[in-house]
Amino acid sequence: MRIVVLGATGATGRHVLTVALDRGHQVVALARRPEALSGMAHGRLEVRRADVRVRDTVTSACRDADALISALGNRREPADTLSAGARAVAEATLSRVAWMGTFGAGDSRHRAGPLYDFILRRVLGDGFADKAAADAVVAGPRTTLFHPVMLTDRPATGEATVVPLDVLDRSWRLMPPKVTRADVAVAMVTEIESPAYAGRTVAVY
Ligand SMILES: NC(=O)c1ccc[n+]([C@@H]2O[C@H](COP(=O)([O-])OP(=O)(O)OC[C@H]3O[C@@H](n4cnc5c(N)ncnc54)[C@H](OP(=O)(O)O)[C@@H]3O)[C@@H](O)[C@H]2O)c1
Repeated sequence: MRIVVLGATGATGRHVLTVALDRGHQVVALARRPEALSGMAHGRLEVRRADVRVRDTVTSACRDADALISALGNRREPADTLSAGARAVAEATLSRVAWMGTFGAGDSRHRAGPLYDFILRRVLGDGFADKAAADAVVAGPRTTLFHPVMLTDRPATGEATVVPLDVLDRSWRLMPPKVTRADVAVAMVTEIESPAYAGRTVAVY
């Protein structure tokens, strides 16, 4: 498949690139600073300059692609960054989208206890509302919304659980567990290859 990766220079996005390339896909990495990916040269990797605030830089890269995976983040960015990215993706012609949100924001709000909710809102500030807004823009039949719990940079375990929120039969009274970015990347690429949860939000833990 030809897969566009948004947020490709980020901590999760880099894992997405590695997993998708290892699985034989053609990968188009979108980056504000393409030079940040100079160490990842690969015959099936194309790096294109893109900024979600310049919508055409995203939509044009998607024109001949099958799917998009987003690991876009709004840390240290204007608070509407995810919404801006979601609007660009909503305009793009793609058959599949895997979009990374956050467990505890949007549809999954209140699926962990009040302490987690309080901390998440304090930590994210205005970015908290941006997460829910972006999810709403990008949601639809072609999209799987990923809501991972807290992320770590530990190596992949191969043991992450992916469960649609509508059938998630557990909640965490205090803090939810953690999941590695590497495992989240595997889950998103796998979903793009064989969509099991299109049109739904999944918790990843
Ligand atoms: N931290 C957690 O525990 C946690 C838990 C669940 C979900 N999440 C969410 O998961 C997502 C990925 O997290 P992460 O830590 O892997 O992200 P990250 O390392 O902060 O990377 C964010 C990516 O977004 C890109 N980006 C930001 N603004 C952009 C713009 N205007 N145009 C194009 N690209 C832009 C960054 O590019 P540059 O390299 O140019 O800055 C970078 O590639 C985030 O939305 C995060 O909130 C986090």
